[in-house]
Amino acid sequence: MAYHSAIVTTALRAPLALIQVPTVPPAAEEVLVWVEFVASTPLDLHQNDGGLLVTHPQVLGDSVAGTVVQTGEEVEKKGILKVGDRVFGFTWREQKEKGMQEFVTVGWWHLGKVPEGLSLQEAVTVPNNFVTAWHTLVTDLAIELPWPKPDDYVPSDNQASILVWGGSSSVGQYATQILHYYGYRNIISTASVKHHPMLQELGASKCFDYRSPHVLQQLFEAAPKGIKKILDCIGSLDGSIKAIAQIAERGARVAILLPVIVRDATETQHPEYAMDVMEVVEWEDGVDARGVRTHFYMDNVFRKWHLQPEIMPTLLEEGTIRPNRYRLVEGETTLERAQNALDILRRKEVSGEGLVWKMTEA
Ligand SMILES: NC(=O)c1ccc[n+]([C@@H]2O[C@H](COP(=O)([O-])OP(=O)(O)OC[C@H]3O[C@@H](n4cnc5c(N)ncnc54)[C@H](OP(=O)(O)O)[C@@H]3O)[C@@H](O)[C@H]2O)c1
Repeated sequence: MAYHSAIVTTALRAPLALIQVPTVPPAAEEVLVWVEFVASTPLDLHQNDGGLLVTHPQVLGDSVAGTVVQTGEEVEKKGILKVGDRVFGFTWREQKEKGMQEFVTVGWWHLGKVPEGLSLQEAVTVPNNFVTAWHTLVTDLAIELPWPKPDDYVPSDNQASILVWGGSSSVGQYATQILHYYGYRNIISTASVKHHPMLQELGASKCFDYRSPHVLQQLFEAAPKGIKKILDCIGSLDGSIKAIAQIAERGARVAILLPVIVRDATETQHPEYAMDVMEVVEWEDGVDARGVRTHFYMDNVFRKWHLQPEIMPTLLEEGTIRPNRYRLVEGETTLERAQNALDILRRKEVSGEGLVWKMTEA
């Protein structure tokens, strides 16, 4: 059995470690990918510092970009992917699929081909966030996203206000672009003022500063008929949910990215999380608030087969969506880069960008 390097948690709030794990040969419908770039996301912090859904030592990461080095029999026969293809994907379910390792072994449906002209660094910012945005809009907010989109498609409620709280977050940027592509013309966003021009380019119609003491008043004025669909890309009890609970009226649907952050991780403090979004604040009667769990996106069979292999690369190739800006995290070794990225997340330095780093020493 061959082995390769992987980045793992070691204990609650402890430094990360690099260990050797088995390289699993691909089964008939799988491929083996040499992972060149990975993305670090807040989930790494939730797991390392908060112990969320983690058994130490756990390989971290769920977004990869790299090159196919071996294909299973069926993948090859059907011509789905071949050795040498540049691929990217959201892969997370078991150790052999986790992102932060030199090789992942995954079903072909977790991968798309990286479009020409897109670097692996850019590509790796997309999968987890794009899949989350799409899944949340359809499953939790009940917004139809027909695929392929008919040329003359215009949603009947395309002038209705939709609030994306945390528009500059990784998920917020893709959600905004997807909604705009499907014809929604009243996308209201909250973000730091410096990101407003970028969000308007992506399709937001009105942007407000979430730190302003007037933000609730501004949102009420921006949507006098009320806001029936609200996407909370932050899930922070004090930073987003308490405010949203004041905006959401009877009949509104609210999707909140889990976990609910009751207290942020800091260098000196444990984070605190909650999972039941109905319990953490008082909602007006008739508000349907849901916690988002992207890990269930494959329950929908169409999305399982089409979202990553087809929809994600097609929209990028057409230029309908563009990848997030990224910050390349430096470090002498793979472990240093992984640890530096985690420390950046803990210091809350991420603003309108994805954290990307080179997995391989080669
Ligand atoms: N449950 C799921 O399926 C799922 C999937 C994906 C992500 N998530 C969770 O969603 C959360 C966000 O993830 P991410 O990767 O998108 O984060 P991210 O991109 O790292 O978030 C950074 C952004 O959050 C914005 N922000 C921070 N506090 C804010 C607030 N109070 N109001 C509005 N914006 C705020 C910042 O905006 P400015 O720079 O403009 O200040 C910054 O651009 C994480 O907790 C993650 O674990 C859950």
